Amino acid sequence: MKADERVETTRLVLRRPQATDAEAIFDRYASDQNVTRFLGWPRHRSLEATREFLGFSDAEWARWPAGPYLLESLEDGRLLGSAGFAFETPYRAMTGYVIAKDAWGMGYATEALRAVVGIAWGIGLVRLYAPCHVENAASVRVLEKCGFAREGVLRKHSEFPNLKPGEPSDVLCYALVNDRARLRGSAPSSEAKRGDSPPSKG
Ligand SMILES: CC(C)(COP(=O)(O)OP(=O)(O)OC[C@H]1O[C@@H](n2cnc3c(N)ncnc32)[C@H](O)[C@@H]1OP(=O)(O)O)[C@@H](O)C(=O)NCCC(=O)NCCS
Repeated sequence: MKADERVETTRLVLRRPQATDAEAIFDRYASDQNVTRFLGWPRHRSLEATREFLGFSDAEWARWPAGPYLLESLEDGRLLGSAGFAFETPYRAMTGYVIAKDAWGMGYATEALRAVVGIAWGIGLVRLYAPCHVENAASVRVLEKCGFAREGVLRKHSEFPNLKPGEPSDVLCYALVNDRARLRGSAPSSEAKRGDSPPSKG
């Protein structure tokens, strides 16, 4: 089942990215050194990198029930950030979110993540998880407000290219599981058929 490409919350619109969004994504958050510090993808140094992300996003949406969403203000259409899914199997996806610096501290990430969780259960996901740098206190708070459980520390697990390039860092693993979801078909064989998707790039 495919997710809706446009979802509204109280203050946000979550929508599938389009090719025409490149400049806004680049300007609002993807090129910002401060905002991308704790992210797993290299900050965009040119619009070309943003266009690559948009190609990646289209491929994710074509292959899986959902992919990245942009977050816009429902009130004035301003781009506020991004959130969404990186599917690994039909029942398991990673989530992540980023908010433009001038919109931090207003509850937007929490509102967006709650919407992502709603979409996840609607399309039959069983496990939604979020890796998070051990020092990313604001993100930990967002995950805990949304009910994610801390499963543990994955030691020297991931590279944070804007923080310590080339050096894996410790990562907290947070997850939500939907015990009531019914798997369509047999999970192991679906996983073997589909394989893993590449890591999120934007
Ligand atoms: C993390 C991020 C997404 C949070 O976005 P946001 O819209 O400001 O988040 P919210 O306003 O919904 O919630 C933030 C919470 O963290 C708290 N917080 C902020 N900075 C904090 C800090 N340094 N230490 C502890 N808590 C902090 C806020 O007080 C708020 O909690 P509260 O509602 O209990 O007061 C945003 O800072 C961001 O884009 N950071 C860069 C990208 C990133 O790290 N993404 C996550 C990758 S795992």
